[in-house]
Amino acid sequence: MTTQNACWTERLQQVMPWGSSTCSKAPRFAPEEPRVIVRGKGCRVWDADGREFIDFRNALGPITLGYGFPAVDAAIREQLDSGIVFGHPHPLECEVAEALCRAIPCAEQARFLKTGGEALAACIRLARYVTGREHIVQLGYNGWLNSLAAGGALLPGQQTASAPPGIPAALSALHHSAPWNDIAALETLFAAYPNQIAAVVVAADYASMAAGATFYPALRKWTQEQGSLLVYDEIVTGFRVAVGGVQEYFGVRPDLAVFSKGIANGMPLSAYVGRREIMAALDKMIVSSTFAGETLSLAAAKASLRTYETEDVIGHLWRQGETLWSGLNALFARYSLPAQARGLWPCPQITFSGSDSGLTREAFFRAAYRNGVSLYDVSYVNFSHRDADIAETLERLETACKEVAQTR
Ligand SMILES: Cc1ncc(COP(=O)(O)O)c(C=O)c1O
Repeated sequence: MTTQNACWTERLQQVMPWGSSTCSKAPRFAPEEPRVIVRGKGCRVWDADGREFIDFRNALGPITLGYGFPAVDAAIREQLDSGIVFGHPHPLECEVAEALCRAIPCAEQARFLKTGGEALAACIRLARYVTGREHIVQLGYNGWLNSLAAGGALLPGQQTASAPPGIPAALSALHHSAPWNDIAALETLFAAYPNQIAAVVVAADYASMAAGATFYPALRKWTQEQGSLLVYDEIVTGFRVAVGGVQEYFGVRPDLAVFSKGIANGMPLSAYVGRREIMAALDKMIVSSTFAGETLSLAAAKASLRTYETEDVIGHLWRQGETLWSGLNALFARYSLPAQARGLWPCPQITFSGSDSGLTREAFFRAAYRNGVSLYDVSYVNFSHRDADIAETLERLETACKEVAQTR
């Protein structure tokens, strides 16, 4: 039988490489995995054939409050009546920047763009300008625009051995990849490029994020000693482990930081924030984009930030995350599956071990989809996952684990 899902896949693959504009959204485990999502509400999404999934992909991060969250949607609708984007700044630009400066420890000033990678590119250029140095050290994935290092992340969780395709060798040579929680590796890089490293840009390693308690202080000390800037990629961690991200959670301030997913409950917005004296260099070093101050996203951000202020969103993400992911770990143990949800409860990574880890991973994800649970390697609860949703998820995942165990 030809399903609506299958028709869309065929059409997408005809007209679009990957069949998706976002590589990580291209379905790999069809037919169990939904191929197109047509609707979301709260913590659930529906595919083109009407199949319902309890969703933990959350658009790969941006949905923190829930799909169609009433206060955010109302703010977008209200702003729509006044206009989307203008030829001068809008008051919302000021209000949201002020709110970010109140909420984020390192933020003395803030400025907007549309995507996370773009805002990190702005920080990288800023760091080069203020330090007068050219080399950049990167930990983890910082978006496609900045995936330039040989040995670095090409996509989340995917390394490249040589300069990425399409990147000139001379440009790639200015970017260096370093592992998470390895100060010795940084020392080696800094020794190889003395007084040449402008910034260390850090995205947390989700499975091992607890190591941030000692790693971030060590990074702060090291970069200060070396005269390099410390830039946090808080694109996943912001508005999740704490409103102000890992810098609030672990109590170590970077010089600059980028927030994006989670800032506006799904509307496209990124913010680069940091110390006033560094941000001041933007008067000479130009970053500018037509849509940066687009107001529907800013209205969504204002309503989202207000929700974070008035409701215990972060507490909810931690509590529901703990119930779900520790419950899943108990299921993995009960059914002897070599898998574990590791990391901090608001953004853990589901990891698989053993010689057939790839097969176990595929079998588990397929079984989860078959039973109506949509997961990703890094999965999240949102503010709309209520107790009953978590209990229902664990029931569905128990069936999934049982099915995987039976085929091993
Ligand atoms: C840690 C991290 N940094 C940067 C990015 C890039 O953000 P964007 O896709 O909005 O450019 C992502 C996207 O997945 C990410 O997870």
